[in-house]
Amino acid sequence: MDLEKVLRDLMVLSGFSKNDALVLRETADVTLGWKDEFAQAFYDLLFSYPPTAKVFREGERAAREISLKAWYEDVVRGNFAESFWRRQWAVGLIHIARQVTNPYMLGMMSRVQQLFLHKCLENFEPEKAEQVFGAFKRATDVIAGIITEGYFQNYMSAMQRVAGFREGLVMRMLDLEIGRMLEDEGVHLSVEDWSVANL
Ligand code: HEM
Repeated sequence: MDLEKVLRDLMVLSGFSKNDALVLRETADVTLGWKDEFAQAFYDLLFSYPPTAKVFREGERAAREISLKAWYEDVVRGNFAESFWRRQWAVGLIHIARQVTNPYMLGMMSRVQQLFLHKCLENFEPEKAEQVFGAFKRATDVIAGIITEGYFQNYMSAMQRVAGFREGLVMRMLDLEIGRMLEDEGVHLSVEDWSVANL
């Protein structure tokens, strides 16, 4: 499955639209002011929790803060060009290489969204706060979906290449194995319901 299809699925189903990019752009003069606070809160938490602190190398925090601020800036400016989405897809691959699991990433995306909601309620009238938060929430949910799917698909591709199998063969072998695992779980589905070949 390619990035374009994944992006379309996420956008249609979450309700993310061009209008969200416009809303974010219009309010960027306010939301950009929260950048340092976001980076601080994000890394304070990651460095205070041993499993995530272990991910980082000695002296890496400053560089990571710069990357996160650049990412935040793109989001709140509504800079959603094709190159932005390609980069999010690549983040899945970068995270595999650095052993950043999807639960780590999703947990932090939830934190980012909660902090953004808090700041919106503090800084905007309720109706505006809902509009700006809604735009940010949809955008960051789409991003989380892309990173997760990029992680999964890149993992699968790498495994197929390492094993030297053709994709069709891997899919058939996976179907058999998933069938066995479903049986072990006592779940009885017909192959059409769950075939990984439909991915
Ligand atoms: C909201 C969730 C997250 C987002 C949106 C995100 C985004 C990104 C982006 C955009 C990059 C590429 C940086 C660049 O362009 O140089 C990246 C790389 C990276 N991220 Fe994440 N990330 C998230 C969560 C995490 C978490 C939870 C960790 C650690 C536990 C983490 C650790 C890293 C590391 C170590 C790199 C590699 C940097 C490098 O070696 O160049 N990220 N991430």
